[in-house]
Amino acid sequence: MTTQTIIIGGASGMGHALARTLVAENDDVTLVGRSADRLAAARAQLERLGTGRIDTVVADIGREQDIADLFAKVEQVDHVVVTAADSTGVYGATADLATSVARSVLDTKLLGAWLVGKHASGKVTGSITYTSGINAYRPNGSNTIMAAANGALASLVHGLAIEMAPVRVNAVSPGWVDTPIWDNLGMDKDKAFAEMARRLPARRIGTPDDIAQAFLSLMRNGFITGTVLHVDGGHQIIS
Ligand SMILES: NC(=O)c1ccc[n+]([C@@H]2O[C@H](COP(=O)([O-])OP(=O)(O)OC[C@H]3O[C@@H](n4cnc5c(N)ncnc54)[C@H](OP(=O)(O)O)[C@@H]3O)[C@@H](O)[C@H]2O)c1
Repeated sequence: MTTQTIIIGGASGMGHALARTLVAENDDVTLVGRSADRLAAARAQLERLGTGRIDTVVADIGREQDIADLFAKVEQVDHVVVTAADSTGVYGATADLATSVARSVLDTKLLGAWLVGKHASGKVTGSITYTSGINAYRPNGSNTIMAAANGALASLVHGLAIEMAPVRVNAVSPGWVDTPIWDNLGMDKDKAFAEMARRLPARRIGTPDDIAQAFLSLMRNGFITGTVLHVDGGHQIIS
């Protein structure tokens, strides 16, 4: 049976990897992001993979009207997956971070997630899956506000899983995954990845497909709800 999934953040990275898998299985996807150009490019990459319908919607998860409009046009949807987050300028000491950056992180990652729960309510029938992150569980002293937002997502998942039942609500907490999000962090990515890969029990950095497979598990297993699934190569258990 064809399912329909809205992927907020689906123009790139792990959201796009999920879209590739779903479209290859002839499922319908709606990609949501802020840039019409990036969405069009992402859609073009999907078109030859399968026969499912591919829609795109320009919306900013930090703006309530955008999220309200997105779901107002939806009669019913099987699954919603949220990977969107604004991490621009977020890495650095708390004392040096502009408060506007902290607000933007909370607006997109936490309040945005809440807005999705609010406006998808009554429209989504299967599951909502959010994206947390390893920094909530292994803070490194340079991303405290993102860690706080990711940590709070776990409580949001617990609350919405009770409130929205029988719709299932979960989150994936990725470790380090090679996606475009790393390109603007101003670090030597290859060196950092090589060092982290040596330390991780999995001995490698994650791929977007690793996370896409985790999203699929949470979407398709009807007995998983209120859970944060750690997909981090063992990052949580190293010192
Ligand atoms: N990659 C990692 O190592 C890692 C580790 C832990 C957690 N995470 C989390 O994983 C999630 C996915 O990240 P990714 O690595 O796949 O990065 P990505 O490739 O940069 O994907 C993020 C997507 O979200 C969209 N987006 C950003 N801000 C948005 C907004 N305000 N409204 C709507 N869409 C927005 C972006 O498109 P536009 O810019 O065009 O809107 C982009 O397509 C994020 O929540 C991130 O915090 C990533």
